[in-house]
Amino acid sequence: MCGIVAYVGHQEAAPIIIKGLKRLEYRGYDSAGISLLNGGLHVYKKKGKVAELEALLDGESLSSKIGIGHTRWATHGEPNDTNAHPHRSASGNLTIIHNGIIENYAALKQELLKKGYTFTSETDTEVLINFIDDIRQHQQCSLGEAVRQALNAVVGAYAIVVMAEDNPGLLVAARKGSPLVVGVGNGEYFFASDATPIIEYTNEVIYLNDFEIAVVNDGRLVIKDTSDIEKTPYIQTINMELEAIEKGGFEHFMLKEIYEQPRSIGDCMRGRLNAAEGRLVLGGIREYSNKLTHAERILIVACGTSWHAGLVSEYFIEEFCRIPVEVEYASEFRYRNPVINEGDVVFAISQSGETADTLAAIESAKAKGAIIFGLCNVVGSSISRVSHEGAYTHAGPEIGVASTKAFTAQLTVMFMIALRIAHRKGTIAESKYHQMLVELENIPGKVEEALAVDNQIKEIAARYKEARNFLYLGRGYNFPVALEGALKLKEISYIHAEGYPAAEMKHGPIALIDEEMPVVFIATQDSSYDKIVSNIQEVKARKGKVIAIVTQGDTVIPAMVDHVIEVPATEEALMPLVTVIPLQLLSYHIAVMRNCNVDQPRNLAKSVTVE
Ligand code: G6P
Repeated sequence: MCGIVAYVGHQEAAPIIIKGLKRLEYRGYDSAGISLLNGGLHVYKKKGKVAELEALLDGESLSSKIGIGHTRWATHGEPNDTNAHPHRSASGNLTIIHNGIIENYAALKQELLKKGYTFTSETDTEVLINFIDDIRQHQQCSLGEAVRQALNAVVGAYAIVVMAEDNPGLLVAARKGSPLVVGVGNGEYFFASDATPIIEYTNEVIYLNDFEIAVVNDGRLVIKDTSDIEKTPYIQTINMELEAIEKGGFEHFMLKEIYEQPRSIGDCMRGRLNAAEGRLVLGGIREYSNKLTHAERILIVACGTSWHAGLVSEYFIEEFCRIPVEVEYASEFRYRNPVINEGDVVFAISQSGETADTLAAIESAKAKGAIIFGLCNVVGSSISRVSHEGAYTHAGPEIGVASTKAFTAQLTVMFMIALRIAHRKGTIAESKYHQMLVELENIPGKVEEALAVDNQIKEIAARYKEARNFLYLGRGYNFPVALEGALKLKEISYIHAEGYPAAEMKHGPIALIDEEMPVVFIATQDSSYDKIVSNIQEVKARKGKVIAIVTQGDTVIPAMVDHVIEVPATEEALMPLVTVIPLQLLSYHIAVMRNCNVDQPRNLAKSVTVE
């Protein structure tokens, strides 16, 4: 995890870095720090958010045209001032920021201790910077060369930027496994974990590849790999609007992102779907399109909310394409020696495109001959680059740690993919196919309608904000939505919640039900409607408090339950896109009422780039 930002050029570095760190706080926010060159190499760092660091900097003389900054999500060592980055080498000559984990740091530390080095923090990063400094001093080589040699001895993942006291125009950056983007300005360079800190200044960027080292020295950029072979940088022009990453008048990014869904779902279909012409185009799936259509089985790997999107996708693909699907937690898949045959198809679903477990699952499936389709939101992310083909979700930057608009975009893309396969295979009737395309096109309007229940949800949130447990129940397509609703509540309001298939309730969770227990039923009018009505009766018989998400116009369930939230009717397979909206809003309002930090919940990070 962690976010890193660095700058060298003709502007003041400190304001650029601080602003950039705030944009990257979604990656971690337990401490922050900055290093500047101003009559010597200075390091300022503080436990807590970037705002705490800003307070520390108040009144300091910060003039420097070069600097590095970091916002941390602790892996080695508790979050405190000492363990915060940047870290300085014992000689005082170098400072470093690092995102990732150096797995063999203990062995390297032993070697350095034998040489008389001492350490002030518990971090792997302080070991790395001393290791680099030691090589530089002993070999009298350039900083770039010392970094290269050090990285060849390192096991683990990293995105680093190093600066030196004796060279005010020099930054050395490198990556393996953790993202790093270089912004190319006019005589100035930016480094950051993603493009958001950079786009205000330039839209020309280079996504560094694993094992690449970028050295900026006196305004000139050279990229080499760790074997010392020079690389030709591929400069891309990115199209990201600043407005898309600002809050736009909403109190929290999460609320803004929930409200953006009619648009983000529309963006995700734009240029791909034209129901009137029966056209469905996925430009990122071409060469391997036949393999996908004729796949004998499909595996989906993902984590967190993306895994829930995978579960819904399993239902789409099996229903429409008649291809068996298995959905796996990437973290389990990567370590359990799964059976993968040459030509098997794997979908990796990931908002960030950087989740370490998902990346590792891809690598292991790829090594066994699988074809990988990446489904990412972040353009240029690692997963999108290691996949054979794939599709972007185009939901725009998602900043709130709890995923909302990325989930609905993932469902939208997977639905389009399933329809496309089914149409090619002939496993869907022509009329049904057209009906589905039309209904998909109508979804943004229906999501807009579902958002209209916001005030009603606020009242329900006020009533249950002190509950200690919640149960979320659904059947069929709405079962993964129950899991997602429970996850949202846990993530941001710290209330224990469980999602279950409604019929499974009687095999355990029913024992939890009493008059204190809020039970959220996702009970829309679909093929399992009658069954779920029975499940509601089972809960009411035990005096549970029922909040039911129902189809507009339903008269049966409202007569049985404590609270009703209506959503518009749609095709059963598309229901999750609509039913998840009130659940996102419910978790949001409860978290706000409990004074929780909605956008940056404790202990979580948006992008988990460590195991
Ligand atoms: C973290 C985030 C979740 C996200 C999960 C998977 O746990 O807090 O919101 O669902 O990672 O992330 P990905 O970027 O791979 O979708």
